[in-house]
Amino acid sequence: MKGLLKQAKSAKPKAHSENSPKKGGFLTDIVSISDFSRGNIELVLENAAKMEKLPRDRKAQILKNFVVASLFFEPSTRTRLSFETAAQNLGARVVGFADAGVTSTKKGETLSDTIKMVENYADIIVMRHFLEGAAKRAAEISRRPIVNAGDGANQHPTQTLLDLYTMKKEFGKIDRLRICLAGDLKYGRTVHSLMYALSKFRDVTVYLVSPKSLEMPRHIIEETKHSLRIVETQSLEKYIKEFDVLYATRIQKERFPDEIEYEKLKNVYIITPELVAKARPGMRIMHPLPRVNEIEPEVDRMPAALYFSQAANGVPVREALLSMLKGAEK
Ligand code: NCD
Repeated sequence: MKGLLKQAKSAKPKAHSENSPKKGGFLTDIVSISDFSRGNIELVLENAAKMEKLPRDRKAQILKNFVVASLFFEPSTRTRLSFETAAQNLGARVVGFADAGVTSTKKGETLSDTIKMVENYADIIVMRHFLEGAAKRAAEISRRPIVNAGDGANQHPTQTLLDLYTMKKEFGKIDRLRICLAGDLKYGRTVHSLMYALSKFRDVTVYLVSPKSLEMPRHIIEETKHSLRIVETQSLEKYIKEFDVLYATRIQKERFPDEIEYEKLKNVYIITPELVAKARPGMRIMHPLPRVNEIEPEVDRMPAALYFSQAANGVPVREALLSMLKGAEK
């Protein structure tokens, strides 16, 4: 028995040197993008680029014999599938659920109790929850790394990292970009995380385009305005000639207390080929997806449409993140 265990241990692959974080240099949980230094963000982007080049068989050694839990208490397509693909590409096995309705949550089990169980089954826990602060709470309880795959209307840090990776790939830089965030800036967690992340770069201009009732929360503007140039407007057209990126978001129906209010706002901004024609030729449209009516399908064929390659970038970025959390000690 002893020999067997020993053999299993020595057979465990060493962390891939290219992708292993410097000791003490990386986070042990991914809860909020505010926890990242610019250096940490850049390290993730560099490792994601390496992941794209790494042969499949070498990649599959990185998390071999590891288990990644994927706990989705809220609907998801891209985030869950790209995390699970990333984990499997790294050689990990994946356990979890895509619908909390089939779990003991339905019977009244608390999040804390669920986490206390799952930390015994898995080495890394990826979770999406409808409550703001759920990932932070889980990270406090769990001795395993927690990855926030979205907590209510609060944050979505891994989406932000893939957004930044997409911008870096497209423009070769993030400093000095002029980025329009349009749509539901109040409830959209992707744009909340993106604001914090962009404030870590130099000379970034952010155009906040939303109806009055869906403005970016004041506290986020206050926390980021020292390093961002912020322009607020309700018009998508007014500054369109200045944008490098038009980052559109879905009006977050599920977060509205009042359905009538949602009905009034659901089509507030629609990106059409005519609108895109008014922008600089180099402007690129991003969207975390899913889209509802924000971008007309005809736009998909235009060179400006970056949203599908943005979604594809979720895999290498999440591979990088999972590999960097390997062996994290809390
Ligand atoms: C986003 C989310 O879940 O916050 N989707 C995603 O993860 N790509 C955006 C949204 O749901 O509108």
